[in-house]
Amino acid sequence: MIIRGDLVHCLGLGELEILRDHVLVVSLSGFIGYLGAAHSPESNEILNASEPPIVLERGTFLVPTFCDLHLHAPQFLYQGTGLHLPLMQWLNEYAFKAEESLDADPALAERVYTRLTERLIENGTGAVLLFGTIKVDTNLILAKVMQRAGIRAFVGKLSMDISSRPTYVEPSASTAISSAISFVGSCHSMVAQLPAHERLVEPVLTPRFVPTCSDDLLRGLGELASAENLRVQSHMAEAHDELDFVRRERGKSDMEIFAESRLLTPRTVQAHCTFLDPPSLTDVAKSGAAIAHCPLSNAYFSAKPFRLREALNLGVKVGLGTDIAGGYDIDMMGCMRQAVAVSRMREGDRIMAVAEGRRGQDNGSLAVDWKEALYLATRGGATALDLPAGAGTFAVGAPFDAQCIQLFDSSTGSSVGPLDFFDGTDRMWLTLDMVEKWWCIGDMRNRLAVWVQGKQLWGKELGSRNGIQP
Ligand code: GUN
Ligand code: FE
Repeated sequence: MIIRGDLVHCLGLGELEILRDHVLVVSLSGFIGYLGAAHSPESNEILNASEPPIVLERGTFLVPTFCDLHLHAPQFLYQGTGLHLPLMQWLNEYAFKAEESLDADPALAERVYTRLTERLIENGTGAVLLFGTIKVDTNLILAKVMQRAGIRAFVGKLSMDISSRPTYVEPSASTAISSAISFVGSCHSMVAQLPAHERLVEPVLTPRFVPTCSDDLLRGLGELASAENLRVQSHMAEAHDELDFVRRERGKSDMEIFAESRLLTPRTVQAHCTFLDPPSLTDVAKSGAAIAHCPLSNAYFSAKPFRLREALNLGVKVGLGTDIAGGYDIDMMGCMRQAVAVSRMREGDRIMAVAEGRRGQDNGSLAVDWKEALYLATRGGATALDLPAGAGTFAVGAPFDAQCIQLFDSSTGSSVGPLDFFDGTDRMWLTLDMVEKWWCIGDMRNRLAVWVQGKQLWGKELGSRNGIQP
């Protein structure tokens, strides 16, 4: 496949780049094999020698797919309900019940997970780090459905040997560890026959969080992670009621317990971390673990914002997560906007504190901007997940995980979806303002197509067009 048009990506935090009128070649195995300006001799050779390219019209561009770093797949069942309760009560009254109902009903699990894949793809999410349920088989359904849909999915079979719900718990640390081992093996074998580039699902060790995991379970999973170099995910320092519970029952902090169990590794993603102070964030950075920032869910369960700017300044790998169903919005566009909005409120507080002469508040702005949020939702997430080189950007050798965004439709002569342009944008090369407008108010109507590993998963077939005037 050869595509000619404008590309937008973020190479680093605050390093958004618009590549105008470029040629991109995707290999049969779904990797970017060539990328260059359309007017270069190499591009001309490709354009003259090969199949006709897909030519993106003015006001249409490619951006990498989003990476959702924290989503509870079974909670999709009740997305958008029950957010009036504090975390520990919500888990008992909504989350555990819903997860148990999927473990009891494979047909329901298949239906919920299939719908979830459709929602992810139409919202431009190409990679997702998932929490599943306790039962191995239900997680294998989740893995199978994701693989079939073509989404890059990291699937976590939950480990929990303590629970407020007697019917939703693993009987002991040792059985929980055996189940985790069994899931890892089955998930690996599910894709073992496929060529490497088609293996899209991977297992993740997933101690739910400290309150539901005994020390024996956490230590066992830590040993397993290090022996087999496995991925790990959990929740850390999320909410007042959770922190109180852990202090009371265990006499330590979440983070001390995870560190002692060897569960803070360069292959770990911890959700939330809302209550971590800068010294703890420094320790997270040293451990190499990443953080999934979930701003909407934090507004409900943490009632406090995550120290995003400090984490970034301290070198922590950070991506964004929707935390379905602790957050109700599966759209990573919403997640990016929430991250920016929350950071701006924090910055407002900081400015007030400086004005009042409070100490330690004058180390620079706490706000992040839309370009930084776009980085977090794409390259930041890919880096947190340690995806193959270049993932989350357009680069030779990177997997082609991309979405095509349309701002202006030449066939109708008007702006698309919620966007309104009044200034001849249809005739212009893509500008930063145009991308910003999409970031702020664009929605699904602006998404023409989605690819993961070079395979188109959604949208119109983009035939060759001739709207471009090089
Ligand atoms: N902590 C432990 N389990 C959960 C969960 O399902 N959702 C959220 N937001 N926090 C958790
Ligand atoms: Fe969560």
